[in-house]
Amino acid sequence: MTLNDFVPGLKGVIAARTRLSSIDGDKGKLTVAGYPLESLACNASFEEMLYLLWYDRLPDAGELNDVTEALAKRRGIPEATHVVLRAAAAERAPVIDALRMGAATLSLGSIDTADECAGALTAVARFPTLVASYWRSLNGEEPFAPRRDLGHSANYLYMLNGEESSPARNRAMETYLNTVMDHGMNASTFTARVIISTQSDMISAVTGALGALKGPLHGGAPGPALDMVFEIGSVENVEPYLRAKLDRGERLMGFGHAVYRVRDPRADVLAAEAARFFSEEGDRKLYDLALEVERTAVRLLAEYKPGRNLETNVEFYTALLLHGLGLPSALFTPTFAVGRVGGWTAHGLEQRAQDRIIRPRAEYVGATGRRWKPVGER
Ligand code: ACO
Repeated sequence: MTLNDFVPGLKGVIAARTRLSSIDGDKGKLTVAGYPLESLACNASFEEMLYLLWYDRLPDAGELNDVTEALAKRRGIPEATHVVLRAAAAERAPVIDALRMGAATLSLGSIDTADECAGALTAVARFPTLVASYWRSLNGEEPFAPRRDLGHSANYLYMLNGEESSPARNRAMETYLNTVMDHGMNASTFTARVIISTQSDMISAVTGALGALKGPLHGGAPGPALDMVFEIGSVENVEPYLRAKLDRGERLMGFGHAVYRVRDPRADVLAAEAARFFSEEGDRKLYDLALEVERTAVRLLAEYKPGRNLETNVEFYTALLLHGLGLPSALFTPTFAVGRVGGWTAHGLEQRAQDRIIRPRAEYVGATGRRWKPVGER
């Protein structure tokens, strides 16, 4: 490949240097700021993980307290934002669209949009409030005010249903948010970096990133993976159902990945969390059925697509875990954004420090040599 070659989708093109996360698709390894994902996701709090991405080291107790406080005090959203969310609810807009509309209003109020750190804190702090407030409005209920005494992910669960969650539920949500917080140069992260590279602001960057995340090829739908488990319904039906799907040439949702040629390491982390969570609470029957679906799907994919190495991806266990936590599938992608905004802001801060506009070229393939004709001669 030379500098002048067109690379569809920029596949394999290195578009940035980052210290944030590194993906080894052949070995199935995801490293975040030098730590294997599996050592961080289930041990760190959301705030610790965020601090690590922003400052490239884990916080000491005082620093952790400071970042926790800084987020907690920024959780409230202005009345103008509630007005936008109510208007979106009146039109039954999808949750991810309402989140994008709400995100665009985050520069209202007292935030200094020229200050990247203030923008980053505000965006991360308020995403859960936007999602939970909208979800309540959509269901004709008053949003709950955020609680300053709860951690970031515990407050998110609280705002969704007004109840304090058990430690097991809080841990499961925190592990999920940590697992999806950063993942290399994915489409939404690239979008955020392009916006920041023009010396635009952090709120614009996360709003644009949400637009990129929404598409089914990216933030997509772990929903269909769960629908498939529900449709299968019983252990006896697993193999006939999956074979029929593969015979029709359909794809099994929750399997295969564009980068990983082995099992997605995020699936491993979420599978371990799901095993722990469902041993204590949740729908154990559904969990056992999902495990059978996974085992059979991987076996059949190896039979139908030999040599393709189609393994379980992050979406399969995302669906199972978030469903276990009582979230409807309409909240799956918005909850992905509640985690990923940590990565977007970290990339935004990194891109700002590099201070270089991202401006690739396009190969022109249109007409040449045309001559102007006045409208009457066309
Ligand atoms: N089920 C059945 N067959 C599959 C699947 C699947 N889940 N995934 C790939 N294949 C088949 C393809 O049809 C293709 O077969 P062919 O060569 O006979 O035409 C072969 O395996 C290779 O597939 P590609 O499309 O080249 O795989 P790619 O790596 O480009 O695609 C993708 C990755 C889009 C994720 C694909 O595996 C897929 O559609 N999976 C199901 C949807 C899904 O789970 N998406 C979430 C991904 S995780 C994430 O993005 C966060």
